[in-house]
Amino acid sequence: MSDIPEPHKRRPRYSGKNPRRFEHKYKEHAPSLYPEAVQKILDQGKTPAGAHRPIMVPEILEALAPMPGDLAVDCTLGFGGHSQALLPRLLPGGRLLGIDADPIELPRTEARLREAGFLSDAFTAHRCNFAGITAVLATENGRRANVVLADLGVSSMQLDNPARGFSLKYDGPLDMRMNPSKGQPARELLLRLTPGKLQEILTENADEPHAAAVSTTLAGKDFPTTLALAREVRTTLKTRPNEEQELSARRVFQALRIAVNQEFDVLDTLLKQLPDCLAEGGRVAILSFHSGEDRRVKKAFEAGLHDGVYGVISQEIIRAGEQERRANPRSKSAKLRWARKAHSKAPA
Ligand SMILES: C[S@@+](CC[C@H](N)C(=O)[O-])C[C@H]1O[C@@H](n2cnc3c(N)ncnc32)[C@H](O)[C@@H]1O
Repeated sequence: MSDIPEPHKRRPRYSGKNPRRFEHKYKEHAPSLYPEAVQKILDQGKTPAGAHRPIMVPEILEALAPMPGDLAVDCTLGFGGHSQALLPRLLPGGRLLGIDADPIELPRTEARLREAGFLSDAFTAHRCNFAGITAVLATENGRRANVVLADLGVSSMQLDNPARGFSLKYDGPLDMRMNPSKGQPARELLLRLTPGKLQEILTENADEPHAAAVSTTLAGKDFPTTLALAREVRTTLKTRPNEEQELSARRVFQALRIAVNQEFDVLDTLLKQLPDCLAEGGRVAILSFHSGEDRRVKKAFEAGLHDGVYGVISQEIIRAGEQERRANPRSKSAKLRWARKAHSKAPA
């Protein structure tokens, strides 16, 4: 150990009593050093900066029924909250493969799970799109999964970090890519789109009622930052009430994020591969956050049940309970569905 004393680090400078900017929230970024401050934030129903609270954990555990020895795939590792709940139930003998497309958050989550005691015999991290689930499973010598989870969309860490450009609340480059080294940022997409194509995206990805008006003022224009884009949506709808402007701005961001990350296409690819990825009796649970995603999951599970691929599927959407909705507002729009792969019939 070096005997050179650590140079004294000043806390970041900010005006007011509490830090407002993501990068200034130094206590939230170091929860092990400031557990009380972080607990206070959780008690207020907020998510600490740089963290993500897993949604509907008991409901997901019930649907997935993880057992010792099972092979599990978490298609959307994120902060690792769901994986951390699954892992102890897979041991001894089981393993979890954690997939995430995000090269910035994945190493952090991997390090956190290692620190929590899950070594490479129990947990491996895979940086790729979940559309590549078959290739990830191939690393397990062709073994099929007993448990598959997908918690769709973006994490709180991605949303709250202005540098990722996902949120209309903070100023940052208009990016929105889950993997910033692949594809084109939202700024480039908007520059390239015609009003007709943008209108289609806003309607299909977010049911935006003002899609026609908004697409005329946004398509083909250059918005370098998130706030510049949000401002233009509000200006376009300035004759509408503020609340309506806000809702439209949020839907525009959602629709662009889905387009930038081709979220519907990759979900369709995952749903198509699932039957071949699951072992007999294997369980899959999918948590979605808007109707476009839920429709796809519902259709795929119903088709699988009809064809005898799935033996049983959830009859209805499962929602977060009252207490969780109050404690974590991000759980309000969550819709959970599950399916269980059928056992093949023994030859007569
Ligand atoms: C809602 S968060 C998951 C949170 C996680 N369940 C937890 O408990 O912390 C969604 C995560 O999935 C990742 N993701 C979204 N779509 C993906 C895709 N098609 N392929 C791989 N990762 C994806 C995002 O980068 C994000 O980290």
